[in-house]
Amino acid sequence: MRCYLERGRKDEQTVGLVPTMGALHEGHLTLIDRAIEENDIVVVSIFVNPMQFGPREDFHKYPRRLEEDAELCEEAGVAVVFAPTPEEMGMTPKGADWENDITGVVPPKSMTAVMCGRTRIGHFEGVATIVTKLLNVVQPDRAYFGQKDAQQLAIIQQLVKDLNLPVEIVPCATVRLESGLAMSSRNQYLSAADLPEAARLYESLSRGKEVFQGGDRTAQGIITAVSAKLKETSTFDVEYVELVHPTTLAPLTEIEEVGLLAVAAKIGNTRLIDNILLRHREPIVAIDGPAGVGKSTVSRQVAHQLGLLYLDTGAMYRAVTWLVLDADIPLDDEAAIAELVSGVEIILKTSEDLTDPAQVWIAGKEVTQAIRTPEVTAKVSAIAALSEVRSALVAQQQSYGLRGGLVAEGRDIGTHVFPDADLKIFLTASVQERARRRHKDLVAMGLGDISLNQIEQDILERDAIDSSRAIAPLRRSADAIEILTDGLSIAEAIDGIVKLYRDKLGNF
Ligand code: PAF
Repeated sequence: MRCYLERGRKDEQTVGLVPTMGALHEGHLTLIDRAIEENDIVVVSIFVNPMQFGPREDFHKYPRRLEEDAELCEEAGVAVVFAPTPEEMGMTPKGADWENDITGVVPPKSMTAVMCGRTRIGHFEGVATIVTKLLNVVQPDRAYFGQKDAQQLAIIQQLVKDLNLPVEIVPCATVRLESGLAMSSRNQYLSAADLPEAARLYESLSRGKEVFQGGDRTAQGIITAVSAKLKETSTFDVEYVELVHPTTLAPLTEIEEVGLLAVAAKIGNTRLIDNILLRHREPIVAIDGPAGVGKSTVSRQVAHQLGLLYLDTGAMYRAVTWLVLDADIPLDDEAAIAELVSGVEIILKTSEDLTDPAQVWIAGKEVTQAIRTPEVTAKVSAIAALSEVRSALVAQQQSYGLRGGLVAEGRDIGTHVFPDADLKIFLTASVQERARRRHKDLVAMGLGDISLNQIEQDILERDAIDSSRAIAPLRRSADAIEILTDGLSIAEAIDGIVKLYRDKLGNF
């Protein structure tokens, strides 16, 4: 593996690592997709780490499916699956278990004394040690961790900082089933009857979010509401409901800017954890959906009616395209484009008149008109397909998200760009309806000699490509509200979203 990676590094290829314990599920695949999107070479490690299991925990029972996992990795485009044995990771056999008497990494006490650390004694030392070893072996540029294990994520971010490890830790949003249940390898232990019950964990967190959005920012108010919701079912044996700072994990009495609301509970012998971020900022509305449902028209007008910024991501890609053309950089010089976009500032300002597009500045220059020329239009798709450009712009969009007060639309806004958006809409329409609309537009342009059937086929193909593409694939967030626009006018779709916003966030 090392030789292979070293060869790649000589060619200045970037390496992304996705550390896992195997039994890969949709959540892992999202981390892998993101790593593939952002790096030239992706390594997935699969290692059920004995050091992070307590004596009475499920180390022996933990699902192991190396062959299936390797196949999934190959299908996803992973270059290397690193699946060491415990011996190769420096441990010695001791009966059916492993002697873990090796040099260890000890995270700050304050970060392990809360949440899961209260009962899982030694767990985070085991995680910190193995992650440090994996980072040293693979030496990736970026490593990907799920927000679902929020305490693990915070501890790893701290350890990378404290030990000056040269790697970027990329947090990835929790992937949920339609029911809201967070994906986890341990969900396999649940029976069919347990599954809907388990989803109540997320319902209880969502209750906490409602209380917070209703204006109560105190830990006492929020935790009491979550606990009361959990008590509505006798299924759970609740271990904790805590509100902490997401970076330091320090317990909060009140949310000033942001809080991590986390729960752990057992259903039978299966221990589940989940969390959400509660952020004190202006609201964010995320509107995702397939091509051709009128997302941009709807989003622009929803933003206008609610007095929010329409985060025109299309204009951002146009601005970068203009900058690349202005600097005379050839479109295939990815390294030069990446350097140009890293750190460049794009400013968007909504125009008072809705018929005017947003005013746009890039690198200090006003480019509102310049980004609408045919030259920019001809090149924008190629530029937007570059992963470095996309990562830089997603980072900029997320920095707009810190302030909030915006509506954004796309394919993965609610799942990837703003996973903690306050209102998530999945705007869609049947293929037949989208084909009818497209046909009507083509007729209006004098291009109506293509059959409806052909348009439907084209739409189905485009949907399949959009859902499986490496960059920004179309994803419906588990907590998105679906609006089927068949039979609805644009005005009705807009009214529906504005009403949902006011019902949900009226007190914001
Ligand atoms: O999250 C996990 O699967 C594990 O804790 C990790 C990060 C792979 C370390 O063993």
